[in-house]
Amino acid sequence: MVIVYESKTGFTERYARMLSEKTGLKVFGVNEISKISLDEEIIFLGWIKAGRIQGLNKVRKYNLAAVCGSGTAKGPEPDAETMISANRINGIPFFYLRGGCLPLKEIKGMDRILLSLFVKILKSRRDKDKEAEEYISIIENGFDGVREENLEPLLRWLGSR
Ligand SMILES: Cc1cc2nc3c(=O)[nH]c(=O)nc-3n(C[C@H](O)[C@H](O)[C@H](O)COP(=O)(O)O)c2cc1C
Repeated sequence: MVIVYESKTGFTERYARMLSEKTGLKVFGVNEISKISLDEEIIFLGWIKAGRIQGLNKVRKYNLAAVCGSGTAKGPEPDAETMISANRINGIPFFYLRGGCLPLKEIKGMDRILLSLFVKILKSRRDKDKEAEEYISIIENGFDGVREENLEPLLRWLGSR
């Protein structure tokens, strides 16, 4: 079994490396996927963009044992059931890992445009609640939610196999 990850700003990569340290499993970036044989079991970690787990399509033909999505939200956003069906991972264990984000001004290109739009929508909400305020601050100022303890459900699942 090996760990494969797709990470744009480094938060998901930190989880992949932490998991590797804890388990002794080798870790590969998704661009190194050709080094892995098709029957090798893979734990895949990818960052979430508008509900889609990035890089997942590159590993679909491999032997996927578990899929982890890393996002900024407290829990899977959209919810786990929607994530599983939108990402076509029914029957494969799915784990959410809270990642983080760089301050908006450090994000480039289309991602920055999309996040700016999201902040604008949140700000324009009349019924803006505490959670919306929190997300606005997280996106504008950056946030690091990477914690070892967030890997516990995945480690428990690994230990039970
Ligand atoms: C354009 C864009 C869309 C995003 N959509 C989501 C989302 O739907 N759900 C979520 O929880 N996080 C979302 N995020 C946050 C990232 O998934 C989060 O910052 C992730 O931990 C980044 O991982 P990385 O540093 O490995 O690239 C989005 C980020 C960007 C830039």
